[in-house]
Amino acid sequence: MFNKIQNYKSDPIESLFDRLAADSDPAKIDLGIGVYRDDSGKVPVMQAVLRAEQQLIERGLPKSYLSPLGNAAYCEDIEKLALGADHPILIEKRIVSAQTPGAGSALRAGAELVNSLSPESALWASQPIWGHQLEFFDKVGMDIHSYRYYDQQNSVLDFDGMLEDLQGMRPDDLLLVHGCCHNPTGQDLNLQQWQQLADVVIQTGALPFLDVAYQGFGEGIEEDVAGIRLFAERVPQLLLTVSSSKSFGIYRERAGLLSVIVSADDGTDIQSVRLKLRDTLRQLYFMAPDHGAAVVHEILSTPELEKLWRKELDEIRLHINKMRKMLRQAIELANSDFDAEFIERQHGMFSCLPITEDEQKHIEQKYHIYMLPNARMNVAAMKDEQAAVLAEVFAKVRAARQ
Ligand SMILES: Cc1ncc(COP(=O)(O)O)c(C=O)c1O
Repeated sequence: MFNKIQNYKSDPIESLFDRLAADSDPAKIDLGIGVYRDDSGKVPVMQAVLRAEQQLIERGLPKSYLSPLGNAAYCEDIEKLALGADHPILIEKRIVSAQTPGAGSALRAGAELVNSLSPESALWASQPIWGHQLEFFDKVGMDIHSYRYYDQQNSVLDFDGMLEDLQGMRPDDLLLVHGCCHNPTGQDLNLQQWQQLADVVIQTGALPFLDVAYQGFGEGIEEDVAGIRLFAERVPQLLLTVSSSKSFGIYRERAGLLSVIVSADDGTDIQSVRLKLRDTLRQLYFMAPDHGAAVVHEILSTPELEKLWRKELDEIRLHINKMRKMLRQAIELANSDFDAEFIERQHGMFSCLPITEDEQKHIEQKYHIYMLPNARMNVAAMKDEQAAVLAEVFAKVRAARQ
């Protein structure tokens, strides 16, 4: 059977990591993978996480099965962290949540759920988008439409284009929107734009799927979710996923939230939604791992650890913003006629260098600098000296255009 698989062409992001691993140049620069690195180049483990793990071990970790809905205490914590404890959705109890193995699995499960209820629903995703994200929807057979979001060559949000394209959404189509620190562009909506987006959702009858993967990496833990909180108050129903991979630095532990937020007045039986969600998850992967979720719950239910975690996350954000400033300065120093303001304006780990696909290929082949599609640079993993190298290379690429 397996001899049917010949000359298999892997996913472009995985192939990039293969090329990077095979590149023996000691000066190669990895701006690809989406993890935060500190000044020493390490992916740090937060003290709050280490202390929570210690507390859990001292108390004796249970190892029995949980429900396919995962760790319920974690779900309550993350609902409150993302939406705010006094959000109308929580007060009105219009939410059913599951703890999933990260937001990636939540996206896949959300796609499965929607497709089983409404096989005609298509997905609308920003252009550009984090490439792996589309697979979750493609694999359940959904049609995928792009909406204009970002003008990479001019480094600006294309909000008019976005609203115009989204007029094409039909009732029950899924609208995927990143809650903050958009991947790959770092370009977010402001509060007024979130309101306008809610109007389009209400008018078209589309179902939003909010994806919050970097809470605390942009402007602040509360500030980063101000837009989605407003938006969620206005739209009748939505799906929400929140990742704990980045915000708690527990990438490989796999903890995320999937919430179904139902309408208050269309006769939805929320208990049935809960059972349907539980069956959907069980059929996909049976059970989620618990360790990461238990750690997050330990942190968020221990005031001292929560305080420590907030402080550590604030430090990460400050470090990223320092790197953004430094990269902007390095680019402007090497390119005196170029305004790199967008790098400081954008949020989170990523920004896209305004170059073409061919130029990106050239940079990889000649200078051994590896970026994800759309020239996505992980600013949060960049070292000081790498910023200067990248800035010089960008100047050479621009000079070659003339
Ligand atoms: C926007 C977005 N959503 C979801 C994910 C998946 O996160 P997780 O590690 O929780 O599966 C990522 C990871 O990079 C992401 O950037």
